[in-house]
Amino acid sequence: MGATLKAFVILSVMLWGICGCFGHGGYLYPQFYDKSCPKAPEIVKSVVAKAVAREARMAASLLRLHFHDCFVKGCDASLLLDSSGSIISEKRSNANRNSARGFEVIDEIKSALEKECPLTVSCADILALAARDSTVLAGGPHWEVPLGRRDSRGASLSGSNRNIPAPNSTIQTLITKFKLQGLDTVDLVALSGSHTIGQSRCTSFRQRLYNQTGNGRPDLTLDQGYAAQLRTRCPRSGGDSNLFPLDFVSPTVFDNWYFKNIVASKGLLNSDQVLFTRSEKTMEIVELYAKNNQLFIQHFANSMVKMGNISPLTGSRGEVRKNCRRINSS
Ligand code: HEM
Ligand SMILES: *[C@@H]1O[C@H](CO)[C@@H](O)[C@H](O)[C@H]1NC(C)=O
Ligand SMILES: *[C@@H]1O[C@H](CO)[C@@H](O)[C@H](O)[C@H]1NC(C)=O
Repeated sequence: MGATLKAFVILSVMLWGICGCFGHGGYLYPQFYDKSCPKAPEIVKSVVAKAVAREARMAASLLRLHFHDCFVKGCDASLLLDSSGSIISEKRSNANRNSARGFEVIDEIKSALEKECPLTVSCADILALAARDSTVLAGGPHWEVPLGRRDSRGASLSGSNRNIPAPNSTIQTLITKFKLQGLDTVDLVALSGSHTIGQSRCTSFRQRLYNQTGNGRPDLTLDQGYAAQLRTRCPRSGGDSNLFPLDFVSPTVFDNWYFKNIVASKGLLNSDQVLFTRSEKTMEIVELYAKNNQLFIQHFANSMVKMGNISPLTGSRGEVRKNCRRINSS
């Protein structure tokens, strides 16, 4: 080996040691805990598996937590903080109140990790791993999760209200809110495919059943037989918390039935159906995924990694919380 080449190799290896980021497309990389807590991914997986075995819906609830975390100040576990001192919890936001769930499972994972390797694995990384493991347990794709996120020392209730789209959003609002996070229309449609698992409350889609545009008429882009069925358990008033599967065909299986339902005018949320009815671009992607589960699965995994890369705290920014619900005292 020539001296220059040798020097270059040595320098590269040194830089790798310092930065650890070359070839990893950013600051996060899957081997982040290989030395400091090699069992971390296994521990996360086993607690998630137990929780999902207890209740199949928990896979959906955990997947959603990663989304609601990443869209507010980046993937920094800001979502997990309870109110305390100057912190106003994001759990109170419109999207999360009476809706976001699975926090006890995250606590259980964190306490298992604190026993194995104290103050090492961030709550933000736990959310990313739990989202992947939940997807796999529901029958969806596996992907390598880039790691090395750190936890915020603050929350943003206003950010949660501003950034996470409402279920009655227009297609333009959905596209814009994803674009603000660096996510394109393929990401929007692929990630909306998460609604192939999990449940929605009546209150999240009632407007479509009775008074879609304020003229006292239902949403006509919704199959009217399906709408009539939904009305039996989602009345004009009352029953706000009654639950309905987001994918009525296979509510606990991660497949492309969500997209087939949308094509059949049986998307539950307005934000689901408009992907097919209000934009040619997203409509074409919905049709592709409805026909090709493999393509959906691939795009979904890819978009999850992209979403998981939204503004992470790395290096010495933020901290690794001891308890996901509160910042460290120092
Ligand atoms: C495109 C914009 C989106 C909107 C407007 C939206 C809205 C909603 C709403 C209203 C619910 C039902 C909540 C309730 O009634 O309690 C829900 C559930 C859910 N969402 Fe989304 N969502 C969107 C995107 C996403 C993304 C990107 C993911 C994940 C990557 C996701 C994952 C889920 C899951 C898994 C559930 C079921 C949760 C459970 O059963 O506990 N959603 N979403
Ligand atoms: C969506 O629902 C909210 C709350 O119910 C309401 O204030 C808002 O006007 C609705 N937006 C649209 C576009 O219908
Ligand atoms: C529908 O909504 C509009 C405006 O939101 C309201 O003025 C009207 O009274 C509602 N109609 C019915 C039948 O609920």
